[in-house]
Amino acid sequence: MSEVPHMPDLRFSQRRRWAADQAIAYLMQQAVENPDVLSLAAGLVDDRTLPAGIVREVSQRLLADDAVARRMLQYGTTAGSTQARRAVLGHLARLEGAATPAELGVSLENVVLTTGSQQLLSLVCEVLLDPGDICLVAAPTYFVFLGTLAGVGARAVSVPSDSRGMIPGELDRLLADLEKAGELPRAKLVYVVSYYENPSGVSLAAERRRALLEVVQRYSHQHRIMVLEDAAYRELRYDGPQLPSVWSCDESRRWVILAQTFSKSFSPGLRVGYGVMPEELARAVCDRKGNEDFGSANFNQLLIAEVLAGGRYEEHVEGLRRSYRAKRDAMLAAAERYFADLPVRWHRPDGGLYVWMTLPEHVETGFESPLFRRATQVDRVMYVPGELSFAGPKERRPRNHLRLSFGVLQPPQIEEAMRRLAAAVRATLAES
Ligand SMILES: Cc1ncc(COP(=O)(O)O)c(C=O)c1O
Repeated sequence: MSEVPHMPDLRFSQRRRWAADQAIAYLMQQAVENPDVLSLAAGLVDDRTLPAGIVREVSQRLLADDAVARRMLQYGTTAGSTQARRAVLGHLARLEGAATPAELGVSLENVVLTTGSQQLLSLVCEVLLDPGDICLVAAPTYFVFLGTLAGVGARAVSVPSDSRGMIPGELDRLLADLEKAGELPRAKLVYVVSYYENPSGVSLAAERRRALLEVVQRYSHQHRIMVLEDAAYRELRYDGPQLPSVWSCDESRRWVILAQTFSKSFSPGLRVGYGVMPEELARAVCDRKGNEDFGSANFNQLLIAEVLAGGRYEEHVEGLRRSYRAKRDAMLAAAERYFADLPVRWHRPDGGLYVWMTLPEHVETGFESPLFRRATQVDRVMYVPGELSFAGPKERRPRNHLRLSFGVLQPPQIEEAMRRLAAAVRATLAES
């Protein structure tokens, strides 16, 4: 028998080490291994509301024309199809209440289409942040983005936030502290999920949108500290005020990168997201994107452009809002019913997919906690531990929150999942 040759180890890059420890992979594995567990963890959109009919009809129409079909099947450009970027600007004009795209004060050169908005978030980090640079984020914030920051070796600094979002006075204080410590040159970005934040469901209050801009401008002595506005859930509004984007509050269009997506409002499988940003930044993002893929899927971009032009998009999103509003209401009603006698608080979101729940401070919710074990193993219900959504040293992160999603389950299952969760919380409180 021939001898097995010595197999030297792989030697991974620093970037690979920075990209380790993806909590999302653990959650997905848990879901697959425990199919009878009702998941309030999955942040997915509801399968039943996906626009199969619209996509079938529009793609059949497009593919029936040979020339169009060939164009869709060909490479596109790094920034994305011109036709699709034009459609996106038209769409943005409607969201911003502008009469025409020209009124937005930007042009096609300011728009980049990406593979979901996640790719845009990642590219922005790559072109603005060197290892050790700082991005200020709300507490809590979107945990995947914390991974993106870690992936480029950047530091996330938590800005205290309340039920109206990031607190501008606290951002001011933290930037002043960084300045005193000589670290202001490292502060490059402020990341805000401006509508119905994942995980907290909180929206940034209207007056805070302008106030945040004013603060970053005041500390931009040596370079522009950019605001990265993630408006992923903007179109999923069920009630509450129609808020202007942070991007629209900056008339100069120089201080804010607006990241949006068709994942929540239409289909995450198409992976079409987009960013609107100053032209020099759009060029930088495209240069970097050129190294990755020289363009996201042209086919999907042209499909979305046709869907937007076809007039059925709005009707579809209206249907989504009705469906998710009913689910949100089911979750809130179940919270009232099952948690009323427990020392628990929750936030009522005006949109999005999440309800944020807070337990007494001494009750931990993490993967290793008695509550998580009890919930998944005994009561058969799963949630996302809140601690994943906080930046900073592990030992200083709040550990008593839960992110509950009403996106995937139907109202009767949401009710049952909340009943199970209350049972797990009650049992854990009794033992703690
Ligand atoms: C706050 C937030 N931003 C961005 C994304 C990225 O979504 P996509 O890449 O599908 O556009 C998500 C997805 O869940 C999200 O919750």
